[in-house]
Amino acid sequence: MNNLRLLAISTFGLESVVKREIQALGFEITRVSNGKVEFDAALEELPKANLWLRSADRVLLKMGEFQAFTFEELFERTKTIAWEDWITKDGKFTVTGKSVKSTLGSVRACQSIVKKAVVERLKEKYKTDWFEETGPEFTIQVSMLNDIALLTIDTSGSGLNRRGYRKHAGQAALKETMAAALVQLSFWDKDRLLLDPLCGSGTILIEAALLARNIAPGLNRGFAAEKWPILGEKTWQKARTEAKQAICSEPVLEIFGYDIDPDMIQHCQSNAKTAGVGKDIVFQQKDIKDLWIDRQYGILISNLPYGIKLGDFRELNEIYLSIHKTFKKKKGWSLYILTADKKFPDYFKRAHPDRVRKLYNGSIEVNYYQYYGERPPVNR
Ligand SMILES: C[S@@+](CC[C@H](N)C(=O)[O-])C[C@H]1O[C@@H](n2cnc3c(N)ncnc32)[C@H](O)[C@@H]1O
Repeated sequence: MNNLRLLAISTFGLESVVKREIQALGFEITRVSNGKVEFDAALEELPKANLWLRSADRVLLKMGEFQAFTFEELFERTKTIAWEDWITKDGKFTVTGKSVKSTLGSVRACQSIVKKAVVERLKEKYKTDWFEETGPEFTIQVSMLNDIALLTIDTSGSGLNRRGYRKHAGQAALKETMAAALVQLSFWDKDRLLLDPLCGSGTILIEAALLARNIAPGLNRGFAAEKWPILGEKTWQKARTEAKQAICSEPVLEIFGYDIDPDMIQHCQSNAKTAGVGKDIVFQQKDIKDLWIDRQYGILISNLPYGIKLGDFRELNEIYLSIHKTFKKKKGWSLYILTADKKFPDYFKRAHPDRVRKLYNGSIEVNYYQYYGERPPVNR
């Protein structure tokens, strides 16, 4: 049990970013599939995975995976798993579920069978018929896919996007995990200028600054597994201390965020301060129509308004034209635009994007249009 098989869950399309993050943390990847990256870790490394993963939605502990065509098979195989290794006698546990392309299509029935099997197992192991369920929480998930049951326990608790810094978010705010991925999918690094001219609550820029300063994104929040006795407070404390020591105070960053809405600028400043990067980003109220750039090289990453409401088209087109006008002669700028508007490349009057990546912002299908500029000379 000292060696764990963990699953980092991600938004579809971000698996390659999550994979890179996991490898950079020194873990060994064992499998990558849609929205899931599996990797091995030692028990005491569980805090590190939760504290440091930037683009994953949560970290699950893999308890078992097997074929199940009948409820009996599901029950019997679930009962063979050593749940008592994790779930304490006073543990409070719930079972969530999902089922895709499987004979066992009733999610509620799968959940109830798994719950029964786990209770049976714990009754035998703890030699009791009654569980108080007053202790730490364990969320089991049964996930059926093509008749394969995957059983996990969630180690993260609330989603890893909840870093704790975003007290104020705009209506169309990006998830922090997605923002971190957009930055990592770009050519930006801490030595280059970064701009988001429609920055909303500042998520993309704050995530970039966290990355540049090597601040663990989960440093200021708690995790479900933190309450589990198996790891103990000291292991978590050690991981947090190491994360604090790893913070880099040196980089002088050039990160700029603008938004037309003055309230959003105030929110950005307060969010960035809470995240510990208040001094690293310059926020300013500005209409994109007034954007003027005098720098030859830079990176723009922005999540545009999508114009889902009818009648927004003119406003959107003006935004596209303003970006085009500002950057058409700036060969040293790389532009990264996230939008659900599939007509964007037609109206944004620039050559074809160098790369388009299909992603999901919540349930909305979006595209990440990437236009590569010239790289700056080495000794700029
Ligand atoms: C999709 S939101 C950006 C959300 C942001 N990525 C976040 O995570 O909070 C788009 C932003 O564009 C801003 N905006 C709309 N029109 C603008 C304009 N003409 N100039 C500058 N900002 C504008 C809106 O106020 C809004 O905050």
